[in-house]
Amino acid sequence: MALQNEHFARRSLLFMPGDSMKKIQKAAGWEVDSVILDLEDGVAQKRKVEARTTVSEALQTLDFGGRERLVRLNHVSTGLPPAEIEATAARRPDGYIIPKAEEAADLHAIDRLLEAAELRLGLEAGALRLFAMIETALGVMNLQEIARATPRLEGLIFGAEDLAGDIGAVRTPAAWEVFYARSAVVTAAAAYNLQAFDMVFTDFHDDAGLEAESRFARQLGYTGKTCIHPNQTPIVNRAFSPSPAELDHAQRLIEAFETQQAAGAGAFTFNGKMVDMPMLVAARKVLERAT
Ligand code: COA
Ligand code: MG
Repeated sequence: MALQNEHFARRSLLFMPGDSMKKIQKAAGWEVDSVILDLEDGVAQKRKVEARTTVSEALQTLDFGGRERLVRLNHVSTGLPPAEIEATAARRPDGYIIPKAEEAADLHAIDRLLEAAELRLGLEAGALRLFAMIETALGVMNLQEIARATPRLEGLIFGAEDLAGDIGAVRTPAAWEVFYARSAVVTAAAAYNLQAFDMVFTDFHDDAGLEAESRFARQLGYTGKTCIHPNQTPIVNRAFSPSPAELDHAQRLIEAFETQQAAGAGAFTFNGKMVDMPMLVAARKVLERAT
């Protein structure tokens, strides 16, 4: 089975308004895996063009080190993406994010624009990565067609705030109102070999709340989480990295499994609990995350 980890490993992805050079500068040297230069809802309607110029300039002039540089586009229906890609692709971001993806056609439209940009710039086909945000009811209903719309797609990002607005849910700290969609996104990602990134936690002063929400996301199968404030990324990075105790447990479980298999047992007792193949697969995933 091909694993999600063939792709760049992302635990934290930090959003910032594309019209704020100050915030982009800060993110470029920050403890974060992916930097998301936003052209969509983080930017006021009247500053869309300015944001595009700032993002292009930031990509050209700042050193982001090993951090991934992603640009979040506006939705295809706004008519803005062609100019947004035109203004930024030559500055070589690592990829683009489609907000409010609702059907395969949304991805096909951007895929075609990226294909044309690659051709124009002499880049390898598929060099520009693609991510889709699932944050509307229709996006959740059409997860399958979105997830397999194009081989360029590397991951799905779950957006709880827009979804809550769309379905008429009231956001609560426990987040049960978006649980169905949150779980559906991570399941679709696993089915189609994509990475899955959890929703933002808007209360950026509540570190304990962020940690608990990150831990739960990881338990659901998410491998990373989107952030809105720099203070959140160290917490998220830690939550999505296996602890020494988890690594040790996984290592010992794999060794015990191999010994038991050699002795002819498929299921056996480990630390007082039944272990068989699914736990071996899970333990291997824990070790993969550490590398
Ligand atoms: N990325 C990079 N740097 C950020 C940042 C972000 N998302 N949010 C804050 N910072 C910087 C600030 O510029 C400030 O830098 P300084 O210490 O060099 O002056 C520092 O971190 C502390 O910021 P703070 O004063 O606590 O927050 P703020 O009032 O400046 O900003 C928000 C609060 C919510 C407006 C801001 O965090 C933000 O813009 N978040 C992202 C919004 C967004 O992109 N939304 C769309 C996607 S959901
Ligand atoms: Mg949104």
